[in-house]
Amino acid sequence: MTSSGWPPSLPVMGYNTWYQFRTGITESVVVRQAQLLVSSGLAAAGYSCVNLDDGWMAAERAASGELEGDAAKFPHGIGWLASQIHALGLRFGLYTAIGARTCQSLPGSWGHYDQDAKTFASWGVDFVKVDDCGGLPTGTTLDVLTQHFRQFGACLRKYNPEVVYSQELPIHQIGKPGFLPAVRASAEFAHMWRVAHDEYPLTRDNASPMILGHLAADLHLHSFAGPGHWNDLDMVAPNFPASGWTLADLHNQLSVWAMEASPLLISADIAALPPAALAALMNPHMIALDQSGKQCSTVIMSGDVEALMKPDPEGGIAVLFVNLGPGTSTGHFSLPQFGINSVMASGYNVWTGRTTTFSEVSVALEAGETTLVQIKGI
Ligand code: GLA
Repeated sequence: MTSSGWPPSLPVMGYNTWYQFRTGITESVVVRQAQLLVSSGLAAAGYSCVNLDDGWMAAERAASGELEGDAAKFPHGIGWLASQIHALGLRFGLYTAIGARTCQSLPGSWGHYDQDAKTFASWGVDFVKVDDCGGLPTGTTLDVLTQHFRQFGACLRKYNPEVVYSQELPIHQIGKPGFLPAVRASAEFAHMWRVAHDEYPLTRDNASPMILGHLAADLHLHSFAGPGHWNDLDMVAPNFPASGWTLADLHNQLSVWAMEASPLLISADIAALPPAALAALMNPHMIALDQSGKQCSTVIMSGDVEALMKPDPEGGIAVLFVNLGPGTSTGHFSLPQFGINSVMASGYNVWTGRTTTFSEVSVALEAGETTLVQIKGI
């Protein structure tokens, strides 16, 4: 980390346009969300980087070969927009793709890594997300693709040594033998890399399976996470509340993301976030856990209830209890299982704000329910 605090050594916190606006982003939409980030208090809570996802670029490159913003959506240009975001005290991020086309068939960076890195630096871009999308030569192997991602990162750093490099090299390897090699390589040259599929379908029914599914899929990746490089579970509060997710779903998501030290990039219309959702996103204990610099590595089970734990930066241990079973289940745990050797302990529930004291833990949860508790010996 530099003296200016950028690039951050801890998981990036900020905003991404994708799940809310998709390709309908315009400069007024982005400036408004950035202003809301500040006026809501989210920026002061740490959400400081505003990222344009797919859909910002013109349908074709300029005659010079340079990427350009879509002039109808961004009449003042992307450099101007970056300066507006910077003037609000925020960081500015852009999306591109490793192939010739983005996932929305707009121009990608294939054949232009150096040129695009230079353009981004000239615009004052602080964060670049590189997607694993279309238009690579047929037969491109994972090794070659990895080299391309590595090379693009080097170009980005050449023109802006402080850039945050976010990428999706592992995403098309999920469930395949290439996944771990892709994550391992990413951890060498990127700040964050996607280890989870996109959050679709965004429905109430899919919320819990998708959010809790990350536990089995991503816990074993903890050794790749550390200062300056993080497993990325994708955005938080995606299109909330229009997605149909409940506040409990949002709490589940933030609990899992915080335990796994994932970047926290909000992808909702901040004006439409109910006060309770805003409060959840700004919960200082959740944020402290996410920003503790550690991904959870320890898990124990009691019946269908899983307890994930990691040291709590506020003292003691943070434990996320999750019912992974099909029905109501009660988990029973002793204090020594959490490394606590006193007879009694106190537990602070991060979402209800209630504190209880106990000599052992019995936690009854409905299917898919979670509870996040900070436990200290007393
Ligand atoms: C992919 C990425 C998403 C988003 C879209 C944009 O699906 O995984 O995060 O960037 O492309 O087209």
